[in-house]
Amino acid sequence: MTSLTDTLRACFTGKLLTDAADMAPFLTDWRKMWTGAALAVVQPDTAQDVAQVLTWCNANNVPVVPQGGSTGMSGGSVPEPSSANADQPLPIVLSLTRLNKVRSVDPQNNTMVVEAGVTLQAVQEAACAAGRLFPLSLAAEGTCTIGGNLASNAGGVQVLRYGNARELCLGLEVVTPEGELWDGLRTLRKDNTGYDLRDMYIGSEGTLGVITAAVLKLFPLPAAQTIALAAVPSTREALALLNPAQSRVGAALTAFEVLTDTCMELVTDHVPGTRRPVTEASPWYVLLELSITGQPDQAEAQASQMMEDLLGAAMETGWVTDAAISANLAQFEALWAIRENISESQSAVGKTIKHDIALPVSCIPDFLESTDAAIAQAFPQVRQVVFGHLGDGNLHYNASPQPGMGSAEHAAAFLALEGPLNKLVHDAVHAFGGSISAEHGLGVLRRDESARFKSPLELKLMRNIKQALDPKGLMNPAKLLPLN
Ligand code: FAD
Ligand code: MLT
Ligand code: ZN
Repeated sequence: MTSLTDTLRACFTGKLLTDAADMAPFLTDWRKMWTGAALAVVQPDTAQDVAQVLTWCNANNVPVVPQGGSTGMSGGSVPEPSSANADQPLPIVLSLTRLNKVRSVDPQNNTMVVEAGVTLQAVQEAACAAGRLFPLSLAAEGTCTIGGNLASNAGGVQVLRYGNARELCLGLEVVTPEGELWDGLRTLRKDNTGYDLRDMYIGSEGTLGVITAAVLKLFPLPAAQTIALAAVPSTREALALLNPAQSRVGAALTAFEVLTDTCMELVTDHVPGTRRPVTEASPWYVLLELSITGQPDQAEAQASQMMEDLLGAAMETGWVTDAAISANLAQFEALWAIRENISESQSAVGKTIKHDIALPVSCIPDFLESTDAAIAQAFPQVRQVVFGHLGDGNLHYNASPQPGMGSAEHAAAFLALEGPLNKLVHDAVHAFGGSISAEHGLGVLRRDESARFKSPLELKLMRNIKQALDPKGLMNPAKLLPLN
């Protein structure tokens, strides 16, 4: 009798992994929080291959877990561990990384068509080679894929200026759970022809279909960029700086990020060659990036002047106490490296409890004042690691063990705090009108918690969409939708 995977192997010679050791890297997520089991890992080369796999899975009632770079923070890209005990067969992990072609770039239309498995960095490089900017930017860009970015509606450090992944996509190509290929690769800025299927698939975390290609929006390449790290007493002063900065420089303000001194210490302790770029430690730092178009020789000087004027004025008011401004590419990259290495450095000191929260920007100082105090009182074992995209209201309000408590023997005790700590933080976020997942999606991590904050009607409508587009429930089971 031929097994299920033998049938699949006949179609996908050399593209199917079934050996436990070969499959292992595809079954544990980046944070090492979830390890699942799979029937096989399939690595298709084309959208037609994907359609063939999904047709086979549909015929055999085999679930599918789409996977890009597997850098997601919410456990969406690996089989859900408890689904191994459920009635369904084990899933296929569908790795999209071999769908890695840039199909076309149209600089005049400011669009490009790329396959789902192209890494974000390769997308940026292809745009740049054509004299254009693809502005989505995040620390995992060397590994994460554009398919994963769209499936999770990723945010990153340029949302303030360019929007999140959803706003950067004009069209999609998708394989449905039945194995049909939908060509929605429209390169139009305007297309009001009924329900927006593209927006349905973006942010659906692989639960409705598989994205195989996308049309992306491109922008003019900046002629010059500069970044400053400004020391500020608190997020009140950081926010006081935001509106005047936008009024003064407008769209040239392309990033407005924050980090605490705890983050700065974690990075300087764990990343060789990094150092605090200002003399005195400060409770908070803001990273401001300016990007200028125009003639490169003039733009450089213009960008530096703009930044100096901005920070000079902020120092006079006392909002900024000290600052370091990049004067060349090496300094620009060194300042960005501090921000980009926070997640890795936090992972180096033990397990993390993450809160990817969005708040109205105006509420952030009050939220921090009351919630920081409540955590310090109720959870003295917790070291807060707070940073994020202040310009768009998204904080990574994370927690680590206190120094010296990060070893494996203390991990279980620390992770036992997750439930009560989540409750405290998410209730506070809700009270301030915020969201418990700003950019990382629900996956497994926030799947059930999200039900506390959505109305029965909203949940019913979401389930109706799932039922309509994935009637057999084969796409990424036990992700995104609350189990009860
Ligand atoms: P995966 O992790 O493989 O998958 C994510 C989800 O999408 C899963 O549910 C998966 O099933 C689904 N999926 C993947 N590909 C497809 C496809 N082709 N079709 C359908 N479904 C698919 N995220 C941010 O938003 N902003 C940040 O600033 C940010 N910074 C990060 C920094 C670091 C150091 C790391 C490790 C991660 C960071 N992330 C950030 C999280 C992560 O990088 C993003 O969520 C990214 O978009 C995931 O892409 P991926 O290819 O790795 O997707
Ligand atoms: C980032 O912005 O660096 C990531 O989204 C945050 C995280 O790792 O929590
Ligand atoms: Zn982030």
